[in-house]
Amino acid sequence: MDGDFRTSQMKALVLSGGSGTRLRPLTYTGAKQLVPVANKPILFYVLENIAAAGVRQVGIVIAPETGQEVMEAVGNGSRWNLEVEYILQERPLGLAHAVLTAKGYLGEAPFLMYLGDNLIGCRVTDQVQAFREDVSLSASIFLKAVANPRAFGVAVVDGDGRVVDLVEKPQTPPSDLALVGIYLFRPEIFEAIDNIKPSARGELEITDAISWLIRNGRKVQSHTIDTWWLDTGKKDDLLLANDTVMDDWLHRRVDGTVDAESRVTGRVHMEEGAELIRSEVRGPVIIGRGARLVEATVGPFTAIGPGVVIERSSVDHSVIMEGCHIRDIPRLENSVLGRRVRVFPAATHHDSISLMVGDDCVIEVKR
Ligand code: G1P
Repeated sequence: MDGDFRTSQMKALVLSGGSGTRLRPLTYTGAKQLVPVANKPILFYVLENIAAAGVRQVGIVIAPETGQEVMEAVGNGSRWNLEVEYILQERPLGLAHAVLTAKGYLGEAPFLMYLGDNLIGCRVTDQVQAFREDVSLSASIFLKAVANPRAFGVAVVDGDGRVVDLVEKPQTPPSDLALVGIYLFRPEIFEAIDNIKPSARGELEITDAISWLIRNGRKVQSHTIDTWWLDTGKKDDLLLANDTVMDDWLHRRVDGTVDAESRVTGRVHMEEGAELIRSEVRGPVIIGRGARLVEATVGPFTAIGPGVVIERSSVDHSVIMEGCHIRDIPRLENSVLGRRVRVFPAATHHDSISLMVGDDCVIEVKR
């Protein structure tokens, strides 16, 4: 036990449903929250942050399509010293609907709600503590100044950080402060949700529920983060998330085997069982267990998943997931490859490419 009665009463609610349309094709075969950034699922960073804030009890809201995969990856949460329970949201009817679905789990506890596909560069411990102690606060939200506020919930705050207005994906944003997908609530959020209607996209929006609190004179505080926030929505966002996380958090650690003709420079994390043969790796790079690089040049800013094989090829600024095989490719860059993708030269001699790809893939070839 952590010994602190008030902290142990606080719960966390992680939303890990949704269809992840923007990350297709990766999300046809997996949950968007499990897409790896620096070889670790985004959801794991979320759970680490919750654990670091001293919250032990975590409810994870899952969808029928991807719930099984999330449960297998996270288990009972003991790896993070968390007690994880799962709550099934049958249909994707919005963030506020997910909160309603979790009502039985949450009971009377104040809670930290965290969207399972959001990555931030800081801890939330101080805000969790402040919210717990100041019972006059109905809710507390995390904000970040962004260049494209239209894509998010947007807040207007006064000089003390108190939220005076909130609107979901406005045409004319009243400020550049976007709602980061991290919120602190007390049970009165249920009263707010009972009083809102579905939005134009047919969802019960948590933004509307918080607006209801504000309109009804409740106190909603904000904290504007000044570190990075990555919404891993699309390919370029995912590559940026990968770059940023490796830039900030990766340490040099070479546990694999490196032959005498290979060179490893900079911050390279090579996991056990990974192997370099006549290859050059320039960090930041992470190489998963069992990966094998033969006469390859890899990095910088590249994540090589477990069991990947790269032969006589050069790869940089890319995310190469588990089990891929890249052979005889002079240069692969800015690429995201899902699991078990194979890339190699065509057998024909005329100038053609030959593809076997699933739905919604993007192929960029030389002009
Ligand atoms: C949701 C929220 C939005 C918030 C965003 C953060 O948007 O509705 O207010 O800014 O998460 O990621 P969605 O991802 O559902 O479009």
